[in-house]
Amino acid sequence: MEHEDQFGTVTWERRDRVLLVKIDNAPVNAMNFRIRQGLIAAIETAENDKQVDAVMLIGAGHNFSGGVDIREFGKPLLEPSLPDVCNRIEACTKPVVAAIQGVALGGGTEIALAAHYRFAINTAKLGLPEVGLGILPGGGGTQRAPRLLGAKVALELMLTGRRVDAAEAHTFGLIDRLGKGEDALSEGLTYVEELLHLRAGRRPTRDATGLSDKTASAAAIQAAHASIAEKARGLFSPFKIIEAVNASLEQPFEEGLRTERRLFLECIASPQRAGLIHAFFSEREVWKLPETRQVAPREFRSVGIIGGGLMGAGIAVAVLDAGLPVLMVERDEASLTRGRSNIEKVYDRLIQRGRISAEQKERVMARWTGSTSYAALGDVDLVIEAVFEDLSVKKEVFQRLNDVLKNGAVIATNTSYLDVDALAAEIPRPQDVIGLHFFSPANVMKLLEVVVPSKVSPDVVATAFDLAKRLGKIPVRAGVCDGFIGNRILAVFRGAAEAIMEDGASPYQIDNAVRGFGFAMGPFQTSDLSGGDIGWATRKRRSATRNPNARYVEIPDRLCERGWFGQKSGRGYYLYPEGSRQGMPDPEVEAIIDDERRRAQITPRTFTDDEIVHRYMAAMINEGAKVVEEGIALRPLDVDVVFLYGYGFPRFRGGPMKYADTVGLKAVLDNIRAFEREDPLFWRPSQLLVDLVARGDNFASLNGGL
Ligand code: 3HC
Ligand code: NAI
Repeated sequence: MEHEDQFGTVTWERRDRVLLVKIDNAPVNAMNFRIRQGLIAAIETAENDKQVDAVMLIGAGHNFSGGVDIREFGKPLLEPSLPDVCNRIEACTKPVVAAIQGVALGGGTEIALAAHYRFAINTAKLGLPEVGLGILPGGGGTQRAPRLLGAKVALELMLTGRRVDAAEAHTFGLIDRLGKGEDALSEGLTYVEELLHLRAGRRPTRDATGLSDKTASAAAIQAAHASIAEKARGLFSPFKIIEAVNASLEQPFEEGLRTERRLFLECIASPQRAGLIHAFFSEREVWKLPETRQVAPREFRSVGIIGGGLMGAGIAVAVLDAGLPVLMVERDEASLTRGRSNIEKVYDRLIQRGRISAEQKERVMARWTGSTSYAALGDVDLVIEAVFEDLSVKKEVFQRLNDVLKNGAVIATNTSYLDVDALAAEIPRPQDVIGLHFFSPANVMKLLEVVVPSKVSPDVVATAFDLAKRLGKIPVRAGVCDGFIGNRILAVFRGAAEAIMEDGASPYQIDNAVRGFGFAMGPFQTSDLSGGDIGWATRKRRSATRNPNARYVEIPDRLCERGWFGQKSGRGYYLYPEGSRQGMPDPEVEAIIDDERRRAQITPRTFTDDEIVHRYMAAMINEGAKVVEEGIALRPLDVDVVFLYGYGFPRFRGGPMKYADTVGLKAVLDNIRAFEREDPLFWRPSQLLVDLVARGDNFASLNGGL
């Protein structure tokens, strides 16, 4: 006997004395308003059916539920709300049991908290990850979780948003019964029967006693306040979470629910919620490419890496960690030994920190082989070159790869700036050539720009995305140009920062203002970290082709000429006494900047932090728009993801293009036009930006409905 609610998203059927209620909305059973309606209808059915003694909630497919449908946020609220559903479940006069498999996240866990008993199989994972979306658990979770688990555990779950294994959840009482096998349905039903047999009745979570030790709970709230003030870095919702949990301590349940609702709606209305949810969907959208929809990736079982320097070693670690064998080729024995030791250093640091054991390192390193002969690569399916950033060196490497690689092997370059089309044209198999631009440190940074040259075969693009998946990276498709998406835009906003510096602000003020916006680091700290010599080499390379009328700030060259490359040389824009990583302002650098201002006949002026940020962001957004306009990035969201994962852009702002939409494109363009009067060459507005403003449109309109 099976009934469906009117939209077919929740089904229910009677199994003996139990009404089995199934949430069915593939792929993750996200609870849109139809599901919420269906759940209430199912509980009503259970109430009214005399043959039903208990209810079991379960998810169809692999998961219980990934929570409320995130797409609903930011739109008019649809009834019934999740708290309505949870309250209805809790008020059911017959015992309700949640049987959890896969994930129960956010609203998924809150539904379970509203049920009277919770069962989970071992592989299930629970969590309250709303903080990652700029909101708080708004289905009663901030009131029920502390009552069930105590404020300390509840806060830890809500503030970290981490997923908890069922076994761990069992230890602190979030789960009542842990399953033995893989079948939540049959084991769950057995559990319900057992409860009925024992005449175990309803047990509303609101009556749980987790908050009975008021002193401990108050202390937990205070401790959370102290630690989050440091950790939240401009975030809004962690404070609201603490406020809501505090209400669970100080207010009766019903009033606490009203407080939670008020705070939830404040979070929903905040731009941070919009930014974080944009980030959530964007990092999933970047995987969807028109050109790979119909093609399967090429198979690869091994990866060759050419060059064992900073990047080659980092990429090797990423590949080894993914369980794939690596064959590294270096130019001579000494370089190969250094390459191997570069890799080992990464694992040795992990051993020192107690993150892996020496045996684990041994096992991983067993997948590594090295050679000084290209001939060794004959059997390899995919090769990534990470040799010096020099077109002639790379061209020679491509020739040698062409001589030895089997047909169909993928040839990837990790170049930062060079023309991948030109490299592909070097060999008679351009269809196999692609750019894979990893970011340093390559085993840590999540971003992978997949640079798609004109002749590459779609299945090679699909292979690059498949590799990204296996390495746990976030791939973004980029077209060929100097610097692709990220480094091309970087050159422009760094140029803006240098101009601000020459015009009067200190690098320390600029870094500080940029951090204040939410970046992990300012541009001069970043330069000191990655090494000023890299930018210096690029500037020298471009000097012959640089527009002689373009403004060129020479301050960075003055530092590099002194060998002040940043952290690795002990000083750059900052001083790093005795290898310290914490930079100190350097009066000598300020004196050099003063000299350069005099040489360039610039009378320094003051900048407010806001002015600095406006210029910095305007430069980033304008170049980002040009990158979209030229098709280098598929959509504005691809630029956003590059900045979120490669450049420490504050996630709560969603990325530079989302931020531009938030402040309004007209305001951004007005700024650019004002700056254009000072330097028309640098600040030429993007035509796309001009067109969007003329149409009254925003970047989101180019994101395919996201
Ligand atoms: N709402 C809407 N869509 C969702 C969703 C949700 N809660 N969770 C996942 N999806 C979508 C994804 O966008 C994706 O769509 P696509 O195929 O069109 O790109 C699809 O489901 C599959 O998701 P993933 O690719 O992420 O699949 P995985 O298997 O890797 O991961 C997951 C599944 C662990 C559930 C992961 O998607 C996830 O972490 N989801 C978000 C969980 C979350 O934050 N829940 C809280 C929601 S807010 C809430 O409940 C508010 C309440 O307190 C009031
Ligand atoms: P690196 O100088 O640390 O390493 C280069 C390695 O290539 C050296 O070990 C060298 O011995 C080896 N090599 C040179 N010619 C070779 C040849 N013909 N055959 C085999 N090995 C050879 O350089 P790094 O920083 O690792 O950069 C490598 C590439 O990665 C460059 O194209 C660079 O632009 C790119 N890249 C660098 C990033 C960075 O932050 N350093 C970030 C992203 C990309």
